[in-house]
Amino acid sequence: DRQPIIAIDGPAGAGKSTVARRVAAELSLVYLDTGAMYRAVTWLVLQQNIAIDDECAIAELANQCKIELTPSNDLQSPVRVWVNDIDVTQAIRTIEVTSQVSAIAAQSAVRQALVKQQQSWGKKGGLVAEGRDIGTHVFPDAEVKIFLTASVSERARRRQQDFKKQGQPEVSLEQLERDITERDWKDSTRTVSPLQKAADAIEVPTDGLSVAEIAAQIINSYQQQL
Ligand code: C5P
Repeated sequence: DRQPIIAIDGPAGAGKSTVARRVAAELSLVYLDTGAMYRAVTWLVLQQNIAIDDECAIAELANQCKIELTPSNDLQSPVRVWVNDIDVTQAIRTIEVTSQVSAIAAQSAVRQALVKQQQSWGKKGGLVAEGRDIGTHVFPDAEVKIFLTASVSERARRRQQDFKKQGQPEVSLEQLERDITERDWKDSTRTVSPLQKAADAIEVPTDGLSVAEIAAQIINSYQQQL
């Protein structure tokens, strides 16, 4: 018998991380950022100078690397991410990793390795998992499935804020809109587990809503399910 699972999916920059962490904190559930795992593998690939299309070498890397996510209860500080005992919390958020991650996340062996890990972490439930395929593939039996959306311009604006907060170099809104559109396109047209709203997911358009308002909607859906 497992504890409930909340699945939160949606495109890049829809506010999934901030919202999912807040919901997890308020309901005392564990927060699982699956995007961080794809980013960690991408960081390793770049660091080891493996070609992005060398699916064989990348598959081996994805199967052998050790990924750790250390949840932080402090909503202001980032969840720490470790790969093979290296702290990559900041390194996985660079533009370089961000621009390559979709190509790596499209490789079926990579997905198999990471999904297996996610499902084993989620065996007992009691978590808020966030990504692109949580409601459709990772935890298809999740009690609550949320699909967060927002306009491209709103998402670019949020990303710019994130970069600013992290002290990263300034990126123009036009550039961010182009990057987001490209990543959405790659994530939703790939053959393996594309970004898709699960049939039983609740769509939550987030333009103009605060994090608190979005979190409240999700918590409300969760409480109705129980
Ligand atoms: O959510 P985040 O922007 O960190 O995700 C980075 C990338 O990882 C996404 O653009 C997508 O290519 C991939 N991803 C995925 N499946 C997930 C989570 C993330 O394919 N469940």
